[in-house]
Amino acid sequence: MTDFSKSTTPTIFIVFGATGDLMRRKLIPSLYQLYQRKLLPPLFHVIGYSRREWSDDEFRALVLASLQDRIKNLDEGVIHPFLHLFSYSSGFFDTVDGYNKLAQRLGVRDKEWSTCANKFFYLAVPPEYYETIFRHLADSHLASSHSEESGWTRVIVEKPFGKNLKTAEKLDALLGKLFSEEQVYRIDHYLGKETVQNILAFRFSNSFLEHAWNNDFIERIHIKISEKIDIEGRGELFDGVGMLRDMGQNHILQLLALFTMDTPKDFSADTIRAGRAEVLRALAPYTTRTVREHTIRGQYEGYAREKNVAPDTQTETYYMIRAFIRTRRWRGVPIILENGKALKDAIAKISVRFRHPAPCLCPGDAHFHNVLRYQIQPQERISMSFWVKRPGTEMKIEENDFVFDYKQAYPDTEFMGPYEKLLLDVLEGNQTLFVSTPEIMASWRFVDNVLRSWKRSDQQVVLYKKGTDGPIERATLHP
Ligand code: BG6
Repeated sequence: MTDFSKSTTPTIFIVFGATGDLMRRKLIPSLYQLYQRKLLPPLFHVIGYSRREWSDDEFRALVLASLQDRIKNLDEGVIHPFLHLFSYSSGFFDTVDGYNKLAQRLGVRDKEWSTCANKFFYLAVPPEYYETIFRHLADSHLASSHSEESGWTRVIVEKPFGKNLKTAEKLDALLGKLFSEEQVYRIDHYLGKETVQNILAFRFSNSFLEHAWNNDFIERIHIKISEKIDIEGRGELFDGVGMLRDMGQNHILQLLALFTMDTPKDFSADTIRAGRAEVLRALAPYTTRTVREHTIRGQYEGYAREKNVAPDTQTETYYMIRAFIRTRRWRGVPIILENGKALKDAIAKISVRFRHPAPCLCPGDAHFHNVLRYQIQPQERISMSFWVKRPGTEMKIEENDFVFDYKQAYPDTEFMGPYEKLLLDVLEGNQTLFVSTPEIMASWRFVDNVLRSWKRSDQQVVLYKKGTDGPIERATLHP
């Protein structure tokens, strides 16, 4: 476990939007876990930056409340020193005064520690503020790096990165002018999940899979993230976005990329990221005609009555897309992408169905398929279905499973949450689990095409009941 932290350089973590939801729900609990496991550098400090006029103590009260809400068995001995890692600097995102005040605080800290500390800036703010913050960071020289090893500056950006290809390109051009690619960490928290990290190990360390990982052997792949929760009052945010942008452009397409990318020549961050981008670029676009044939847009009943949602809304809370990858390896294999809210189950899994060779040697008319199920949540497990003869005089064949359950296999190991892992990687300068510019652009190109085709073909949402598997029409795409 302790082989994680190699970074011992003094470091300051600056969070823009520090009084918001992300800070409370994810960042504070993750920092606590890292601190408790002694994985943070010995000299480490967090400065929260936000508009509210707060004192350090008021900010620490928020930190404490977050811990009390989110962490079971808080370690009393750790709380006090942990709270003292935090201080607060108030300021607007669009006026220079706040940044000057922040610069002063950073200067004081550097002086106290007699060093030029590493600094990482986390943008936990709505995306409309990104541009302003980037500009001010650059203008105030707050984000200038001293060297690669120490005194570095890194910028962490949450999703969504842009709202479409055009805005993503604009944002990227601006970022490119102000920071080098090595300084920028674009978060997709799915990449930090333990089992998502394992996909590469699973695919490329098990040699029997490599030979079967193509259209000769695989009939279809189904990537599914379903949530029980609905939009939970986030109408204002969600209605202009929709499911495909909210989780498709990022989480779903990243899973697709990891499952279908070619075997990399090495495991460096650059190679892996390039491999993911390549397969995303190969996704086939739709026309106004083919989009109807290959996609379903769904909306749960009652969504249009949610607060801050337009009564005549056509925003999708569910989609199913039959995607195709135009490469030799994957030609003709449907990759079903399914993702929705207010569904029966909360589950994230990928099912890979293998072809059955013809002619079939199975008794009766049935064709038996082996299915690999790779589940990310709620339980982390991999299973492979296989067929066996039922004991007895008759030749009766039944489906059974080989199951590998992560938690059962490693009962004494504490799993690291995605934000913990990703924060550590930023400290260590490892960008493998962060999304590169080419990946962002390729996934927006795909998503924009679907959204545009939906609009042009006037494809309306179909309604589904909350707590079900989704629209009944899904059966036509995924028999
Ligand atoms: C976020 C989406 O990126 O992922 C949310 O914006 C969604 O709408 C969340 O609920 C799901 O994340 P997880 O880790 O709970 O599956």
